[in-house]
Amino acid sequence: MTSMLRKRVAILISGRGSNMAALIEAAKARDYPAEIALVLSNRPDAAGLARARESAIATAVIDHEAFSGDREAFERALDAELVAHRIDLICLAGFMRLLTPWLVTRWSGRMLNIHPALLPQFKGLDTHRRALAAGVKRHGATVHFVVPEMDAGPIVAQAAVPILEGDTEESLAERVLQVEHRIYPQALRLVAEGRATLQSSGEQLGVQQLC
Ligand code: GRF
Repeated sequence: MTSMLRKRVAILISGRGSNMAALIEAAKARDYPAEIALVLSNRPDAAGLARARESAIATAVIDHEAFSGDREAFERALDAELVAHRIDLICLAGFMRLLTPWLVTRWSGRMLNIHPALLPQFKGLDTHRRALAAGVKRHGATVHFVVPEMDAGPIVAQAAVPILEGDTEESLAERVLQVEHRIYPQALRLVAEGRATLQSSGEQLGVQQLC
């Protein structure tokens, strides 16, 4: 086998990091086209940081509170850390900060996010509660390229789950999380292999998938 140059990935988290853990696990496979080179949190107390350290992955904390509202300075610090680790691709995984167009544009086509809903349905927060309230029959998760508009980027992977009678926010969240952990590694693989790319034609953005 010819040697493969694995893409260097940073995972950005704010909390427990179960998607992060799924990506770390997937990247252990010898044929996986990406390695997790950095886990970065905006919160010093994010549980995911300990999990990353247990896996001997480099971690960094850039506490947004230290920047007292200066979003640009926070993002410049974030960007500098990513550059210092020679990062190729970013995976947002429960990263609870909105990013400015400056950072998003800088990493355009190289930044993915996972959202716990079947986009374009239920952008934003509290997706499970809103799906139950809306009475939809199916819910799910989406991995998409990040663009300046929140939860609006072209879709790389999506998976649906049924909503069952008696579901609570928690039971539904648990079912969705199972598929999140499956599709995020798949989507990252597609992007790292260059098989899914962000394309722009005029005003329109889309994903080009090569089989
Ligand atoms: C996931 O539901 C993800 O879709 C959303 O935030 C949650 C993060 O969970 N963006 P975890 O930190 O990966 O466990």
